[in-house]
Amino acid sequence: MIGVWKWIDSRMPTLGSAWRKHAAEYYAPKNFNFWYYFGSLALLVLVIQIVSGIFLTMNYKPDANLAFGSVEYIMRDVPGGWIIRYIHSTGASAFFIVVYLHMFRALLYGSHKEPRELVWIFGVLIYLTLMGEAFFGYLLPWGQMSFWGAQVIVNLFGAVPFIGPDLALWIRGDYVVSDATLNRFFALHVIALPLVLLGLVVAHLLALHDVGSNNPDGVDAKSFKSPDGRYLDAIPFHPYYTVKDLVGAIVFSPSSPSSCSSCRRWAVISWRTTISSRPIRSRRRRTSRRCGTSRRSTRSCAPCRRCFILSSQVCWRWASRC
Ligand code: HEM
Repeated sequence: MIGVWKWIDSRMPTLGSAWRKHAAEYYAPKNFNFWYYFGSLALLVLVIQIVSGIFLTMNYKPDANLAFGSVEYIMRDVPGGWIIRYIHSTGASAFFIVVYLHMFRALLYGSHKEPRELVWIFGVLIYLTLMGEAFFGYLLPWGQMSFWGAQVIVNLFGAVPFIGPDLALWIRGDYVVSDATLNRFFALHVIALPLVLLGLVVAHLLALHDVGSNNPDGVDAKSFKSPDGRYLDAIPFHPYYTVKDLVGAIVFSPSSPSSCSSCRRWAVISWRTTISSRPIRSRRRRTSRRCGTSRRSTRSCAPCRRCFILSSQVCWRWASRC
């Protein structure tokens, strides 16, 4: 594996430097809490939507005479089609829930203010694109709800002063919601808006990584350095937050926490690690120097004890470095 990585790195060093800049050497404040799960979860839902959407497109027919039947075909005859469709439709709702929580966190901690205004602006553009994406997708099953939903929302544009009726006609491509409307909504839903969304998410993350992440205390985590230049209140994104986000993803995935006891244990450990993480150096500094994981939660099971010992060793090693 290391050999493959070296082979790629010698031919394409950009990849290695991107990894270092955005993960291994991207220093993030060490006091991220529960609210900081939702950025990576939004990314996860985006990937789930794209992958499930690709599989749906393999059997969907964007034609007014065939669309409804093709969705029935996906639900009844395509192997696993029903679950792919439900993953996609439930994923759309999950996307909005996760994004609302993500936006709430930004407002809660003032992450929309200087110097992260551009991160927020890209976020707002993502949110608007997401609404368009959901609207265009809703027409595709070509049922009664789709038809009348499109009718109502396109008619809202018809209420714009002066240009309204022409604008509504332009969006529909016809005087009524018809095959022309279905075709263009399909094109926008599967190609145009996903590309815009991906571009905006990349811009959102680049803008964030240029100024650095905020944190619950709101103080600049990168302003405290040891005499030898190490950050005292920031830790590398990888492995600390890649592991944390992985736990968030496992807990978030609908089946795992309810069905498997080791996942439930992981959920408890991650939650306790989150709520008891060491405070950042700030005016509100507390004196506790305790390592993140709670001892009581880990006493009961052998894998958890092992995990706890490992995490405290990592923590001690890191603490003794600074
Ligand atoms: C597809 C949708 C989105 C994705 C994939 C996404 C992804 C992310 C990720 C991975 C982070 C860094 C980790 C974190 O802070 O949680 C982040 C931070 C941030 N996002 Fe988003 N985001 C999305 C939508 C939005 C929206 C709609 C807004 C607001 C309108 C927004 C505003 C912010 C802000 C202000 C931060 C900086 C937070 C801080 O440093 O405290 N994001 N986003």
